[in-house]
Amino acid sequence: MSVHNNKLFYGDNLEVLQRHIKDETVDLCYIDPPFNSKRNYNQIYNNIGKEDVAQAQAFVDTWTWNQRATEGFEDIKNNQNGVFTKQSISLILGLEKVLGKGSLLAYLVSMTQRIAEIYRVLKPTGSFYLHCDPTASHYLKLIVDAIFCSQGGEFQNEIVWHYRRWTGKAKKFQQLHDIIFFYTKSKEYTFNVLYTDYTEKSLKRKEHYHTRIKNGDVYITSIDEKGVRDNDVWQIQLLNSQSKERLGYPTQKPEELLEKIIKASSNEGDVIFDAYCGCGTSIAVAQKLNRNWIGIDITYQSISLIMKRLEDSFGKSVLNTLTLNGVPQDFESAVALANKQDDRVRKEFEKWAVLTYSNNRAMINSKKGGDGGIDGTAFIIDYNEKNEQIYKEVIFSVKSNKTLTPSVVRDLYGTVERENAAVGYLLTLYPMDNLVKESAKYGVYQNKLLGRNFPKIEVISVEELLKGKQMHLPTAVAVLKDAQLKKQDDLPDIFS
Ligand SMILES: C[S@@+](CC[C@H](N)C(=O)[O-])C[C@H]1O[C@@H](n2cnc3c(N)ncnc32)[C@H](O)[C@@H]1O
Repeated sequence: MSVHNNKLFYGDNLEVLQRHIKDETVDLCYIDPPFNSKRNYNQIYNNIGKEDVAQAQAFVDTWTWNQRATEGFEDIKNNQNGVFTKQSISLILGLEKVLGKGSLLAYLVSMTQRIAEIYRVLKPTGSFYLHCDPTASHYLKLIVDAIFCSQGGEFQNEIVWHYRRWTGKAKKFQQLHDIIFFYTKSKEYTFNVLYTDYTEKSLKRKEHYHTRIKNGDVYITSIDEKGVRDNDVWQIQLLNSQSKERLGYPTQKPEELLEKIIKASSNEGDVIFDAYCGCGTSIAVAQKLNRNWIGIDITYQSISLIMKRLEDSFGKSVLNTLTLNGVPQDFESAVALANKQDDRVRKEFEKWAVLTYSNNRAMINSKKGGDGGIDGTAFIIDYNEKNEQIYKEVIFSVKSNKTLTPSVVRDLYGTVERENAAVGYLLTLYPMDNLVKESAKYGVYQNKLLGRNFPKIEVISVEELLKGKQMHLPTAVAVLKDAQLKKQDDLPDIFS
């Protein structure tokens, strides 16, 4: 198995699929795309196509009928790149009549574009798992049917992932499941039968079943010589605040769920692909189970978290076994990232700069608008006067302006003092000698753990970042994890 086949892409999955992923190269694709079902579904549906801006506003920050949706709709209509089936084109044209050009159709257009590409990259023996929830699953099934089943693919299962959680007191039944559709590209596909746990108890149950079958009471086909075959309702606990696995990423899925999918539908050395990989659950499991993998995510927080997750689980050397694509490697691409306009994500250049300088250890401040110029924070370890271990905050501020005056350094110093932080880092796109000079005025911070002084304010340019310069202060990862969990509600809608 060649581990160098592992690839992590930072970017929009449609672009990455079109440009970088070749036909028939993937054995198993799992996706868990965002759909913010916390919003009131009926409200969304009823407002589609109407001009009720105030109502539609509830959904507008996630999906909206904009230029991207118009282009996607045209691409499908004209069968751009020849990836759309007649049925999927007719379906979208038909849905437009029902739904009008609104947020739900924008979502379905975007999914049709991506699922058509996923079909293209799957090997003829490949499988596709689409993770969704009851708010969108019925529409998505129409789309996958129109793409897969019209070209010889097959629908295999609707898997119900059942979990427990606190759902509040809404006037309806508690909603305690997700839906995962399982499709294959053809009738010939990899499938390893899984068995429910094979314990004494299940053996007894098996005997019991056999006896009953003999007696003609029940007809059970799910038993063979190895035990009871797994069924399409999966009881797997949601990650809770106590879970060791939890990384503070709001939509993180349990590894157990991905283990089942990957074990059932692939073998060692196969290629697993996740086009919405979030904090990399599918990737971590693929790595653990000796599969090759390809992951894509549109936000740098995910990319950073995945690298950290891999490093923490498999050691630093694992990072040398993957190719990182779309992450700035030179000044031009850093400038391009700083100037990139994408309404789906915010502050990507800032995230990249903060996470790169902190070696993926910082926490991003994702609040809309400025927060006193704080783009990120991290916790470091120190000792107080009584020689007790303490944690101190460090602050990151990022500026992409071509020119800046020394007042920016003064302001950062003011913030550091106000927050009682140890150090402030100012990361600038362009080299700023005037700011470096100004920063020398603010003295040093003494770290007792390392027995060293650090500039109270440090100005670092992107050129230095690209040469590998990183912060030296010792980050306190456990504290960070805790703080990240608390901050998760601040994350943007694209995560949901
Ligand atoms: C529901 S989360 C996936 C969570 C993942 N299954 C896990 O266990 O961590 C959806 C992810 O899709 C990403 N995303 C949204 N739109 C995208 C796009 N167009 N291209 C690539 N990634 C996208 C988001 O940044 C988010 O991380």
